Amino acid sequence: MEQDLSREFLKVVEEAAIAAARTMGTGDRKFSDHAAVEAMRSIMDTIPMNGTIVIGEGERDEAPMLYIGEKVGKKTEPGNNYHEVDIAVDPLEGTNLCAMGAAGAITVLASSERGGLLHAPDCYMEKIIVGPSSKGAVNLDAPVKENLRSIAKRLDRGVENLVIIVLDRPRHAQLIQEIRETGARIRLIGDGDLSAGISVALRGTGVHAVMGIGGAPEGVLTAAALRCLNGEIQARLVVKDEKLAERMQQMGIKDLKRVYSTEDLAPAKNIVFAATGVTDGALLKGVRFFGDGVRTHSLVMNLSERKVRFVDTVHLANRPDIKVRF
Ligand code: FBP
Repeated sequence: MEQDLSREFLKVVEEAAIAAARTMGTGDRKFSDHAAVEAMRSIMDTIPMNGTIVIGEGERDEAPMLYIGEKVGKKTEPGNNYHEVDIAVDPLEGTNLCAMGAAGAITVLASSERGGLLHAPDCYMEKIIVGPSSKGAVNLDAPVKENLRSIAKRLDRGVENLVIIVLDRPRHAQLIQEIRETGARIRLIGDGDLSAGISVALRGTGVHAVMGIGGAPEGVLTAAALRCLNGEIQARLVVKDEKLAERMQQMGIKDLKRVYSTEDLAPAKNIVFAATGVTDGALLKGVRFFGDGVRTHSLVMNLSERKVRFVDTVHLANRPDIKVRF
């Protein structure tokens, strides 16, 4: 499945990024999101697969979305031999970032065999995310200072030499205070805890953990990426009210207080993870438009093939006299 579809999924995130990037700076995040969603859906519907969206974005903030449960893929007569594929999407991660022309917006999807990615509503999720060196050293329920001490020990450095990424939100006031008390450094981000989670699993990015509450779809997508990069996420769904609790139960979630491991969130044997930069970021360059075409920068990972690819694509204009820059 993976071998066949990596290329196709790359095209999905690339085209969504190009469509979203056209809206950069318009100041209208829903417009940007809509552009990415529509591009994603239209390319997905050309792929020979029986795809189901198992976790997606948009419910929390009533944004345009690929609906949870939506069937995607080339529509043919029933009984075709296409692969059954589960898909987690975040058509535009960092809608505000794109709308404001700020750094770090990306388009993202992950796919697996049926049942390989957690099926959950678009709600909040508590998270702690670390890279391969700190795998097994943290516990979502441990005090902040204990987790940071363990990470520092694994990385053979003092706690004051750690950089922890936290979404800049009032709900994180206590967490930020506790991190500051340990002496660790903090990078507060406006949006984008998914890119942040991938960054901590890559050596040389200079960030060592992500902590706090962000979106659940981003959590599942982070888990899919971390399965490919050997990092770790521990997470718990935030159940804000009875209605959400019922919805979760209908989706098959029995223990609403469960702490999910990376493998619980993304238990798949086969994972393809694909992301393309929309605006320039630490991880990926943004979409660049030029006279002779468009250039995109993507990350495509494949668990069973054990491949991590950074893909620099030049999409050439349909003209005889195009020139490509190195
Ligand atoms: P969107 O661009 O999809 O809106 O998500 C951006 C984001 O910052 C995520 O990275 C994060 O997980 C989530 O929003 C946090 O939600 P909120 O902005 O409601 O705190």
